[in-house]
Amino acid sequence: MVGEQGKREAAKGVVEEFADLIHKSRVIGIGTGSTIANVVKILYENGMLDGKILVPSSYQAMELLSLRGLPVHTNFGGLTIDLYIDGADEVSLRGDMIKGRGAAILGEKMLAYASRINIFVVDEGKMVNKLGSRKPLPLEVHPWIYNLVIELLHKRFGWNVQVRKSSSKDGPTISDHGNIVLDAYTGPLEDPYYTERELSSVPGILCTGLFLGMANHIVVGFDDGGYRVYNFERRFGLGYT
Ligand code: A5P
Repeated sequence: MVGEQGKREAAKGVVEEFADLIHKSRVIGIGTGSTIANVVKILYENGMLDGKILVPSSYQAMELLSLRGLPVHTNFGGLTIDLYIDGADEVSLRGDMIKGRGAAILGEKMLAYASRINIFVVDEGKMVNKLGSRKPLPLEVHPWIYNLVIELLHKRFGWNVQVRKSSSKDGPTISDHGNIVLDAYTGPLEDPYYTERELSSVPGILCTGLFLGMANHIVVGFDDGGYRVYNFERRFGLGYT
């Protein structure tokens, strides 16, 4: 499958390039998706998660860890998260991202915000010139207001916004936090920072899939082998302040 080798290369890249940082990190946040699953597999097989305090971003991440017998810590108040590692759906050249295909955006964004250092791991197919070019923008929205939000975003931006359907039950996808997930077909975003400010001001939109200025490092894996590490200046989150 296209992208699978790239994901594996990127996962290898994280472990090779950041072994020292991982070794020094006491508390590590674990993201959601297939790429981070590759990272966890390698870290686990090399004993690199032994003795760590692991904070999952979702039930999927929790399962990924606990099925290997690794203890997880879900309330991270009072903990300093040294490092967070996660995948992404789209990555722009300045290191901004869209996330949330796995409907885990709220957990992922809380962790990325709280963590001192963030590493994102993607295959080359995720790189775009402008966010929103290929993937819809996921939004986690309170169940009381999601229909109104759909209407509002259509009127305000002209976007087609869909309730994400569940593949395993009738009706909408319910997030790990009990909310509705919307997919906004925005098309390429000229100014994602403006979009983020606008969306965040709507009561009931609990979290957007825009992860802006949050990456310290992005590891991109290539389908024909190898990876490349991109470093960015962190602009948002506790790791920045
Ligand atoms: C989960 O909600 C997402 O943000 C994932 O991190 C993202 O979709 C990457 O997933 P893959 O690594 O499976 O492509």
